[in-house]
Amino acid sequence: MKRLERKHPLAIRWFHWINFPILAVMVWSGLLIYWANAVYRVGVGKHTLFKMTIPEHLYEKWHIAFRLGWGLSFHFFFMWLFAINGILYVLYTIFSGEWRYLLPDRRSFIEAIQVTLYDLRLRKEPPPQRKYNAAQRIAYTAIIVMGLGSLVTGLAIYKPVQFAWLTYLFGGYQMARFFHFWLTIGYVVFFVVHIGQVVRTGWNNFRAMIIGYEVHEVPNE
Ligand code: HEM
Repeated sequence: MKRLERKHPLAIRWFHWINFPILAVMVWSGLLIYWANAVYRVGVGKHTLFKMTIPEHLYEKWHIAFRLGWGLSFHFFFMWLFAINGILYVLYTIFSGEWRYLLPDRRSFIEAIQVTLYDLRLRKEPPPQRKYNAAQRIAYTAIIVMGLGSLVTGLAIYKPVQFAWLTYLFGGYQMARFFHFWLTIGYVVFFVVHIGQVVRTGWNNFRAMIIGYEVHEVPNE
């Protein structure tokens, strides 16, 4: 016999799935803007390991080159949707009590190590799994803080005159831009790991983010 177990409230599912295409547009339009001044690199001192850019021919092929105006227009429109959806999501988690499943607690940091060891098959005993395990709690809370970080650093480089105090708080325009850029790389890394974990965990878990319920087999009485 099959039993349905409630997992994700409808509002959370909507916020989650609305966020996905919005964030994709923000990253894509960010790339159109970044093309105009692709300055970042990973390196030690003067030695550059790799430049944060894509090969020249891909700029042409993917129609990224010379579309700064497009990038800015999309970025400044979709950032409102990103902000509104994010703020509503945070308010919902606060007022519904869902934050209890999401915020890490004192045990989470130790447990997150256990989760990592278990995932790497270096530990046999499964770590405690409530609605979310400790690594998920840390990652999901971090991604919300990162969202807030993108909004405020974005504001600091969008209106550095009107919000001069904010730009100053980040250490100036260049530093605010630096944080804004690396937060985006953070989303991409989060996304790759997130998808990997979703695939690994399987269909039942993924489907629950759509229908709200997990399906469990229970023995017939
Ligand atoms: C195709 C893209 C995506 C898929 C398939 C996906 C899938 C999922 C699934 C299945 C869960 C539930 C995990 C569980 O119950 O153990 C989840 C939760 C979550 N995902 Fe995603 N996700 C995607 C994109 C994103 C993106 C782009 C973000 C943010 C940058 C994100 C942030 C989150 C957060 C914060 C949660 C926890 C939600 C809550 O309970 O409040 N996801 N995702």
